[in-house]
Amino acid sequence: MASDTFTVIAIDGPAGSGKSTIGKLLGERLGLEYLDTGAMYRGVTFAALRRAIDPSDADVIARLAPEVELTLSEGRLIVDGVDATIEIRGPEVTRAVSLVAANPAVRKELVRRQREWAQERDGGVLEGRDIGTVVFPDAKLKVYLTASPEVRAQRRSKEVTDLDYETVAADIAKRDALDQGREASPLTEAPDAVIVDTSNRSIEDIVTELLSYVS
Ligand code: DC
Repeated sequence: MASDTFTVIAIDGPAGSGKSTIGKLLGERLGLEYLDTGAMYRGVTFAALRRAIDPSDADVIARLAPEVELTLSEGRLIVDGVDATIEIRGPEVTRAVSLVAANPAVRKELVRRQREWAQERDGGVLEGRDIGTVVFPDAKLKVYLTASPEVRAQRRSKEVTDLDYETVAADIAKRDALDQGREASPLTEAPDAVIVDTSNRSIEDIVTELLSYVS
């Protein structure tokens, strides 16, 4: 399965910890493609809401997941032919996504697609919640990013301009609890992950540190 050139970098951590910024840069520096696996869970959630399916209806969501066509390319996500790039970041999808991501059948399907994605490219930088623990436990480098809840909420409220800081902070706290407390692949550090607190460090400094572990 894995060839000598198969290089996977796994980046996990909670919302707002810096996974996307650092993952994309690391990919650029290493010449590896980057996959935002959270966008895939958001894509399935978007597909469910569009069909007026209740995200807590586990059986219906389980049947839906394998049928949803997800195309991630150049920062855009196309779901069943519809550009969902903006909507997957909106409050409806953000509030429902943890429920969908807790569904074991959804996880099984998306993990399969994530492994396939990396195999087709001989590796890549994948970011999510379970990349180092479940999707690629043999990744060349596993990174677990953290940051204080305040810093994470500040970062997110800059991105989501139509919600105030308190609402964003409350949504993040709720999502943290759901992602860490779920039965199926909860968010947790892999025992051999490099743990980096991004609260008070520059992006460049962190990327330089991480590159030193790969070469
Ligand atoms: O990274 P994000 O906020 O876009 O992720 C959206 C949701 O998907 C988040 O609540 C946790 C879930 N997720 C997951 O369970 N496993 C992943 N590999 C990626 C995201």
